[in-house]
Amino acid sequence: MKGFAALQAEQRANAFKQANELKAYMEAALAQRLSEVSGASKSVAVDVTLPGSAVPQGRLHPVTQTMDAILACFIPMGFEIADGPELEFEYYNFDALNIPRDHPSRESFDTFFVDAPSPQPQKGRLLLRSHTSPVQIRVMERRKPPLRIVVPGKVFRPDPLDAGHSFMFHQVEGLMVDDRTSFADLKGVLEQFLAALFGPGTKTRFRPHFFPFTEPSAEVDLACASCRGGGCSTCGQKGWVEIMGCGMVHPNVFKAVGYDANKVQGFAFGLGVERIAMLKHGIKDIRLFFENDLRFLEQF
Ligand code: PHE
Repeated sequence: MKGFAALQAEQRANAFKQANELKAYMEAALAQRLSEVSGASKSVAVDVTLPGSAVPQGRLHPVTQTMDAILACFIPMGFEIADGPELEFEYYNFDALNIPRDHPSRESFDTFFVDAPSPQPQKGRLLLRSHTSPVQIRVMERRKPPLRIVVPGKVFRPDPLDAGHSFMFHQVEGLMVDDRTSFADLKGVLEQFLAALFGPGTKTRFRPHFFPFTEPSAEVDLACASCRGGGCSTCGQKGWVEIMGCGMVHPNVFKAVGYDANKVQGFAFGLGVERIAMLKHGIKDIRLFFENDLRFLEQF
């Protein structure tokens, strides 16, 4: 209103009149609204029983959930969790596990070698570990028996991608070493684990197999959950699905870590986490785990 002084007398009177009207209108409106608002808090009840608005919640990936469920079965049996590097030396992935250079069994583990000079050439080339078994060696090198460990982790193999294969997947390795661990302990621990994970009464079988780092070795099969042993497309009409490898630790593995193979014995096993999650939930294609489609992930 200060600026009105510059106006001519007639315009000035009019401007003042209009400004005063506007001011009165604003003051009245403000007073009215204030009285409404202060009255509202007294008269409008808040219904605290109405449901709130949902907050979107994140969740753990089904592979992580399955991994946690697997590890949780071994904790009550006295196993502790250990881990090791994904970028590994040839020595730990192969040599120390009784897979010598130029031995044909090395070819059964297709491997991604890393195209960089090895920082420790005496330990061989660098690679992406093709299984979690090298962690057996790393832990035994640092510690004396008795040992009970489970090792979760990622592993890498140059497999062509299809419904059953991925170039990266997860394993859980197990290792138990003391002076008297036997194959009966291996069977007992694994049967207890599978009953805890898949429910009591789950049918399993141990089938002779070969691994360079265990002797004797076995593969463990689970009665196919889709057909309960009758034979269907999930199990390739076999009635059984292979879920893990295992065996008694080979004396050469103990020698590699400086244990006296005459004084200690133990078992080891390795299982594929995606495979278990697929069986548990009836998932037919491993690629679903890595596409991160929320419509898939939200089901777990
Ligand atoms: N490392 C083996 C594999 O990846 C599994 C295994 C682990 C077998 C320990 C025996 C003992 O196929």
